[in-house]
Amino acid sequence: MERVSELEAFRAACDRARAAGERVGLVPTMGALHDGHLALVDEVKRRGASFVVVTVFVNPLQFGANEDLGRYPRTLAQDLEACEARGVDLVFTPDDGAMYPPGFQTHVEVEGLTQPFEGAHRPGHFRGVTTVVAKLFGLTGPCVAVFGRKDYQQWRVLERMTRDLNLPVEVVGHPIVREEGGLARSSRNRYLSPDERERALGLSRGLRAAAQAWAAGTRDAAALTEIARGPVEDAADSVDYVAVVDPTTLERLDGTVSRALVLIAAHVGPARLIDNLELGVDPLPA
Ligand code: PAF
Repeated sequence: MERVSELEAFRAACDRARAAGERVGLVPTMGALHDGHLALVDEVKRRGASFVVVTVFVNPLQFGANEDLGRYPRTLAQDLEACEARGVDLVFTPDDGAMYPPGFQTHVEVEGLTQPFEGAHRPGHFRGVTTVVAKLFGLTGPCVAVFGRKDYQQWRVLERMTRDLNLPVEVVGHPIVREEGGLARSSRNRYLSPDERERALGLSRGLRAAAQAWAAGTRDAAALTEIARGPVEDAADSVDYVAVVDPTTLERLDGTVSRALVLIAAHVGPARLIDNLELGVDPLPA
């Protein structure tokens, strides 16, 4: 496995792989890798990537002024070991100055899809995500890129960007990987004390309750929203949103629904956690 931090060396390594006929697969990350990220590496291989690239970059552009950029976990030595063990070919670890040199003034922005939910609670977040991912696509030239569906809205926004800009890459959303008990795996779970981790299960309990109601025949969007909200409100310190939305457009649903995604964001102790489940499609959180 090779590790590269300079942009030109990274681009050259990806060019060489493509010239040798490899199918380049990309897994963009912010590091602090866990089983959820490693499942993305497996997925990119399953999608036929013969040259697997992981990027590790804590992208300052996607953090708001009062967010956790400064304390975001950085575990590069372990990340590199985990990538090597999983059969990654190339890890890209640029620094802020390489990605955003003096004079940088270009951003990529998806409009409607970025407005609600995470976009409303984290102004500027998606602009940072789409800008960095567009840059990573440009530098890597992947055939396929895999993202976790825990960040469901991010996945849909990146699909939209890729389609709208005709970028020649297949964007794949991989199902959420959960810890025992149901908590969605996240680098931010490291912020939780044992008590907070227990309370954080309120999110997956809310999703499970909605999924069970769906399985029992409930199809009313308002009822499903309230069923999901109960356990979240009981456990979390504050709730940013619990919403039942169309899985493709992310528009809020009302009345009787035939397809539905439940989206949740809530604060538990020092962590802001998000989770989601497509009713009748995704498995019940364990
Ligand atoms: O999902 C993430 O870890 C980040 O938002 C991403 C896609 C790597 C962009 O920085």
